[in-house]
Order: sequence, then structure tokens, then C-alpha cells
Amino acid sequence: MSIQTIAWKRDRIKIIDQTRLPNELRYTYIKDVRQLFQAIRSMKIRGAPALAAAGALGVVLAAHQSRLRSKTQFRRQLKRVIEYLGSCRPTAVNLFWGLGRMQEVLDKNRDKSPDVLKSFLLIEARQIIEQDRIACRKMAKAGSRLIKNGDKILTICNAGILATIDYGTALGVIYQAKRAGKRFSVFACETRPLLQGARLTTWELKKKGVSVRLICDSLAATLMRKKQITKVLVGADRIARNGDVANKVGTYNLAVLANWHGIPFYVVAPLSSFDRQIKTGKDIPIEQRSPLEVTHNLFKCSIAPRGVKVLNPAFDVTPNQLITAIVTEKGLFYRDSILQGQLLRQSENGSYANRRSVP
Ligand code: MRU
Repeated sequence: MSIQTIAWKRDRIKIIDQTRLPNELRYTYIKDVRQLFQAIRSMKIRGAPALAAAGALGVVLAAHQSRLRSKTQFRRQLKRVIEYLGSCRPTAVNLFWGLGRMQEVLDKNRDKSPDVLKSFLLIEARQIIEQDRIACRKMAKAGSRLIKNGDKILTICNAGILATIDYGTALGVIYQAKRAGKRFSVFACETRPLLQGARLTTWELKKKGVSVRLICDSLAATLMRKKQITKVLVGADRIARNGDVANKVGTYNLAVLANWHGIPFYVVAPLSSFDRQIKTGKDIPIEQRSPLEVTHNLFKCSIAPRGVKVLNPAFDVTPNQLITAIVTEKGLFYRDSILQGQLLRQSENGSYANRRSVP
């Protein structure tokens, strides 16, 4: 069964409404940029690489709906759209990377008419989508070599098809290992508070025929001590120049635990998640989300006393020394090579990597 996270269809953006999963697989059409902004904020569409596509298609949507004939006014209007979409969610650098590429198309083609720019922008967005598809397949191939028969893999949040265009990052490695006939099992952390692990990761792994067991986030330490976990595989929302990784809150906990128990901890992420303008993880902006996500469950009934103070950062940063290797479309980068700057150099070679124009 094919799962199409995001696509350009009939001059609109088609997405899976991920807030309805696992109970209902509902596709929905985004009709304007304001609706896209809300869809991203409310997590109908989420996951770092999928946000790159969403941002790029948002610019295409605004361009197609523009009636402006003046080149300057058209470019100014789209610049405002790019800034607006760039203010949706702060942590996943892929969103800014996708928007930056669209801005670059506008900047390089100042002499072109709005009609020509509309088609150039669509071509660019399609390239971003295709690039992600290829990157996921390459990461899956490179990463699947790490998986051995009998492995017990732990993952957090959703770094799968639903977070990308196709196949996923950490889960792509798992799909590829299964295709290669390897036998292993997967544990998914539920991922409080929005339960991307429970709702999305288990849903897509089941659809793909991968056997998965859902665990409470707090069970990870015990499973590791009992040797029921042999590898941790996670995605990334932003990787700093020194290899520090921001990912869903709780990832750092898993990295500390894995280190303590001598378990390899792998991050799987495309070079578009690499931010070479940021030196260390300390500079990565961490999204703070609504207290209601913590005080109320997804069915909106209260699970905490009214008025209780809440901290709800959506991401945390795992320092490079806890990461065994980062799997990218250019292959594996082990801790030492990351510290020696090899990952940084690869990201510089990657076309457009981190040429952002949006803060
Ligand atoms: O808040 P979310 O659901 O957008 O967070 C997503 C994650 O943390 C993923 O692990 C990350 O984006 C990598 S997805 C391939």
C-alpha cells in the first residue's frame, strides 16, 4: 500500500492529515498559504524533510494564486510568503532550506515574468521532492548495512514515510533491512506528548509489515539494561556544524542511556538537515509548544490540574559525543570523522545545502 505524505495535485497541496492517524487515513487539500501555516503548526503535516516540501509547495501555491503582473511586486509578495511560512516552526532547518531554495529561484530570475517564475518555482519544488526521495533511498541502503539478524532496534517519534516524501530516514533503514531479508525487531517509544511514535510510527511499520512493539517512553532504560535493545535509530531536525543533533524531545535521554549501556546510537538524516551556520547544538532554536499538549490528552480531556505550570519544548539536543554515527545520503560519518569536520565538508559540497535566506 502506498502512502503519499505530500504532493502537488490539481494546483493545490495534497497532504495526509496526520492528526487523524491512526484512526483514519484522510487526505486533505490545502487551498491557501494561511491554511498551510495552520496545517504545519497543528502537525497535520510534520517531520523535517516533509516540511521542506511543504514550504516549497506553499510558495508554489501562493505564486499560482497571485494575480500580480509586475515582476517586482510579484517577487515582493512571494518574499513575504517565504518569511511568513518561515515563522511556522523554528527547529527543523529543512523548512528554511526548502524556502531558501525558492527564494534563490526568485533572486536568480529577476528579469523573468510572473508566469515564467511560476513554472520555475514548481520545477524547483518538484526537484526538492525528488531529491528527498533519492536521499531517503540512499540513506536506507547505507544504513541497512548496520542492521544484523537478531537486532532489537529502538526508535522515537516518527522518522518514516510520514515525515518525508517517501520511505523515511530512520525507518527507511528498517524497511531496507527487511527487504534484504534480515530478521530483527523494532520498539517504538510512544513519544509524549503528541504520540508520534504510538500513532504514526507503529501505524506505518504495521502497514509495511514490520513487527513493532510500542513502549512507554520511560521503559527504555529497563529494556536496555535487560539487553533487549541492541541499536537506537533516530531522525534529526537540525544538525550543527560540530555534529550535535536536535530531534524530538526524549532523543537525548535515549542517547545518554544508550551510551551508559554501551549500545550504538545512530542518527539518520539527509544533508538538508545539516545547518553549517550553527556551530554547536546550543545555538539551535528549540520550539516551545502549547502547555495544553501536556495537560490534556489528545481527546482533549484534562490529565493535569487546571493552571499547572508546564514546560513543553518539542525538541532536545544530543551532543555529538553520544552519537556513534550519522547516516546520510553520502554514507556513514562516524563520531571521529564528524569531529574532524568531514560531515561539514560534505554538506558544503551538497548543492544548496544550507544556503538559507530565511532566519
Ligand atoms: O514535531 P515533529 O513531529 O515534526 O518532530 C519530528 C521529529 O522529531 C523527527 O524525528 C525528525 O523530523 C526527523 S524526520 C525524518
